[in-house]
Amino acid sequence: MTAILGFGGYVPERVMSNDDWAAIIDTSDEWITTRTGIKERRFAAEGESTLDLSEQAALRAVDDSGLTTADLDEIIVATDTPEVYTPDTASLLQDRLGCDNIPTYDLGGSGCAGWIQAVDVARARIAFQPKRILVVGVELISRLISWEDRATCVLFGDGAGAVVLGPGEGKATVLDVISGTDGSRADILTLENGGTRYPFSAESAAAGDHQRLVMIGSEVYREAVRRMSGVTLELLERLGKSIDDVAVLVPHQANKRIIDAVGRKLGIDEERVVVNVDRYGNTGSATVPLALWEAYQQGPIKPGDLVMLTAFGAGFHWASAALQF
Ligand code: ACO
Repeated sequence: MTAILGFGGYVPERVMSNDDWAAIIDTSDEWITTRTGIKERRFAAEGESTLDLSEQAALRAVDDSGLTTADLDEIIVATDTPEVYTPDTASLLQDRLGCDNIPTYDLGGSGCAGWIQAVDVARARIAFQPKRILVVGVELISRLISWEDRATCVLFGDGAGAVVLGPGEGKATVLDVISGTDGSRADILTLENGGTRYPFSAESAAAGDHQRLVMIGSEVYREAVRRMSGVTLELLERLGKSIDDVAVLVPHQANKRIIDAVGRKLGIDEERVVVNVDRYGNTGSATVPLALWEAYQQGPIKPGDLVMLTAFGAGFHWASAALQF
């Protein structure tokens, strides 16, 4: 049995409102609010990096677990916006936290489903050998996407969430996880420049390709709703549970319309669905651990609750986890 021993989260202080965007690009609070439910998001300060965001969320999770960083046995960081190209953000976090010589690795490129996938990997590692594993989901998207592409830039925000997982009893038990991938849909949501297929060059930089997030919004919307609701029902069935048994749903915070559509497909009341996308926007692989941290700290999650997590992102990847508080 794997348990969550502690929860943590962090968002940068700087608030970027829809009106702030409207002052820079051709958009409006009305367009963004109606299409996405986002009112504001947080952007990292100049000099603040992915590692800083990760560290803050990690320290809170370790503190909440009643442990110290010296008690950690392994670190996994899920991110599409790493501190540097190489090495992985997790190794830099290991050094920052002073956890000498413990193994670390990033789960990169899985977009918004990456953190639940990382929890699944950690769960398997713990079943193999009792360990305490820090699992961070973090994005600093504001620095890597174009501020001129209004179709994508208004959707995202910066933030981090983390848990410490371990064997035995804790604040919540990870009952089960299901994840899946459809690699044939990669071109619907992709940032191609920088890899071996399309290496960085002066020409591509001049054209702005290094910040060109390609997104077919309507396709992403359709698949996100289908996959997040589908994988949640699949997991509930495997557990012999129904949606009526679920006290709280923590969905990936892509946008409010997607969250509402997933809720309707699942047949779960709005009050049982956690939403913070209005305040933070889409923080990629950080949305689920960040929303979970808030819901655990401030409600609606309470002891005894069955909580379902569900996410969908670039890949396409999707995943759901069931937690018993
Ligand atoms: N402000 C004003 N107008 C805009 C903006 C903006 N920020 N962005 C696009 N528009 C315009 C478009 O140019 C288009 O204009 P046109 O009709 O003159 O060509 C018009 O608004 C309508 O665009 P649509 O694409 O039809 O708008 P839609 O209702 O589909 O909403 C949205 C777009 C919000 C992106 C929607 O498709 C969506 O939610 N998709 C999911 C995408 C998502 O969540 N991605 C996050 C990453 S992936 C993930 O987390 C799962």
